[in-house]
Formats: sequence, C-alpha cells, structure tokens
Amino acid sequence: MKIVEVKHPLVRHKIGLLRAADISTKHFRELAREIGSLLTYEATTDLPLESITITGWNGPVAIEQIQGKKVTVVPILRAGLGMMDGVLEHLPSARISVVGIYRDEDTLQPVPYFHKLAPKIEQRLAIVVDPMLATGGSMIATIDLLKQQGCQHIKALVLVAAPEGIAALASAHPDIELYTAAIDQQLNKQGYILPGLGDAGDKLFGTK
Ligand code: URA
Repeated sequence: MKIVEVKHPLVRHKIGLLRAADISTKHFRELAREIGSLLTYEATTDLPLESITITGWNGPVAIEQIQGKKVTVVPILRAGLGMMDGVLEHLPSARISVVGIYRDEDTLQPVPYFHKLAPKIEQRLAIVVDPMLATGGSMIATIDLLKQQGCQHIKALVLVAAPEGIAALASAHPDIELYTAAIDQQLNKQGYILPGLGDAGDKLFGTK
C-alpha cells in the first residue's frame, strides 16, 4: 500500500492546532475541512491530463484539462462528513457516495448499515474520507463494499492514522493509497489514537 504522510508545513501546523484540548467546534470543523482540502491536493497529483484547444481571447489556444476520469467522494458517516467539503473545494463536480458503518456490540466487527453510491462507481476514482484511522475496521469495511460494487481505484484520506490501522488496511487492501496528515504513536485500550484528537465525530458535531 502506498502511504503518504503529508509533510507540508500548512498541514503540520493545522494538525497541531487540532490537538488542543479546548478547541471549539467551529475551529475543529474549519481545520478538518482545510486539511481535507490540502490532502486532496496531494492525493490528486497523478490525475491524468489531456490537451485540448479552446477559443481564447486571441484565437485558438492549447490548454490542459483533467481527463474524463470521474471521481466520487466517499465520506464514512458520520465523522467523514467533516472532511468532505475540503475535498469538494478541488473537485466540485465529484459525486458523493455515503457509507454508514456501525460496530456490532457482540462481534465488535464493523457492519455497513447504509450506503448510497454514485452511479458507474466502477469507472470512478473513489476518495474515501474519515478523520481517524484507528483499528482500520470502518475503512476496510468501506473499501470492501466499494470493491464489491466494482470500484477499482481507491484513495483513503485521513487526518490521523495509528500504526495498527495502517497495518490492518495495508494487509486487507494493499492496492489502495493512504494519505494522512499524521501518523501517531498507538491506540489505547479503548481504541483511541494517542496522542490523537479525541473523538473526532463529537468534536465535529459538538455532541460532547
Ligand atoms: N475515532 C475517533 O474519533 N478518535 C480516535 O482516536 C479513534 C477513533
């Protein structure tokens, strides 16, 4: 699996701000969107271009445009919604494919409970967004689902990744690419990333 920990100073600065214990909901939301945008910039450097000729102010002019590659953004509910608008800043025409996952209380396994995918998903690049790659369970289940529907080209964007989640994702889906703003130290016993951000969903939605 290709793993990119984005080292850009803007990303390093913003991820540091996100770690503050007393961060407001508003600021957390803004930063999650902004980092989502910067990760998208990094994750799209290989989008294929084609040359076309258009009519410019002084006659025909050759320009480049992104080839017909279609994109779908895949937020994993609910925290993934916090990064979605950042992706759409650069890819405003992308379709959105929502996936909801819950954890089964008995088996502790992630179970998809809802999905509404973009049409022709097999022709699209899927950019899956979820702020925290902790155990990797939700991300793996989402990518399982996308692949079952024929999706072949998948990139995952997360704010913070734990080594345990990276290892699990790489083992389940070695063909995908992972972009993260930070690779942190470890998971604690409750499955939270350390030093991490705390509960990203609660911080984004102001539910705690
Ligand atoms: N989900 C979160 O929101 N935070 C973590 O640290 C791990 C999973």
